[in-house]
Amino acid sequence: MDSETILIIGANGQIGSVLTEALRAKYPKQTVLATDIREPESPSGPFTLLNVLDKDALEELVSSHRVSQIYHLAAILSAKGELDPLRTWDINMQSLFNVLEVARTKAVKKVFFPSSIAVFGPEANKKNTDQFEALTPRTVYGISKVAGENWCQYYFDRYGLDVRSVRYPGIIGHQSMPGGGTTDYAVEIFHEAIKNQSYSCFLNRDTRLPMMFMEDAIRATISIMDAPAEQVKIRSSYNLAGMSFTPEELAEEIQKHIPDFKISYAPDHREQIARSWPESINDQSARTDWNWQEKYDLARLTETMIRELKAKILV
Ligand code: SER
Repeated sequence: MDSETILIIGANGQIGSVLTEALRAKYPKQTVLATDIREPESPSGPFTLLNVLDKDALEELVSSHRVSQIYHLAAILSAKGELDPLRTWDINMQSLFNVLEVARTKAVKKVFFPSSIAVFGPEANKKNTDQFEALTPRTVYGISKVAGENWCQYYFDRYGLDVRSVRYPGIIGHQSMPGGGTTDYAVEIFHEAIKNQSYSCFLNRDTRLPMMFMEDAIRATISIMDAPAEQVKIRSSYNLAGMSFTPEELAEEIQKHIPDFKISYAPDHREQIARSWPESINDQSARTDWNWQEKYDLARLTETMIRELKAKILV
């Protein structure tokens, strides 16, 4: 195996922090360089402060470390993005342009760009939403992800840049907290169930969304990056699925472990965003092309979240 030097942008985030650890378990620690706009609480390896909007700083880092792979995880998510749409567009798009241009001009071998179920809009079939369903997003985050996917395809076609991408569903993990998304309830609920035995949910009881356990999301990310290039046939972004559930179904599963747990519903502006997204995703292309297969269903996710969080919170 050629030696790799990996740059992670947004390494303190919900996915970035867990991905950084996973890559440091797979590659020599010194070769996995974490970056973020904030210092990490407890760095587990090399870290550099980086604002990815500063293209010169990114270029300097990629050159001086001879970076061979970039994972670009920095973005403003769906709910927070709506607070300042134009700034969200600027940040999400300019950061991607900087990554694509630096990767192209500095001969970076591979780039990972996370897309999202937010690329779909209310016109798409809600159930088993197809890979090639029309993309008509209603959030600025979703619009930026659709545009981002198309730019990845463009850099692949025009410059041969090896960009790879998946459309993450809501990601649920015990290691980190999400920030600014519409699927965040599915992480918050576990923390509140353990601390207070109650949770007020910002989505309606029957709002079904596609979700995935963090370990599966990390495995999908590393699998698509490890796949031989010819197996990565879709160069915009792959649909990816783990499970789908409603807040009520999740609460019932939690009650199997915490019988006193109570949920109430106070839907806010995030409900409208959730209603514009698919309920479930068809990810046959990822399964066929690079052997994607999830390991966690709702029961296993719930059991693992409660066990891990109890150990962390109730010490
Ligand atoms: N989890 C993200 C959000 O809710 C979707 O990609 O914004």
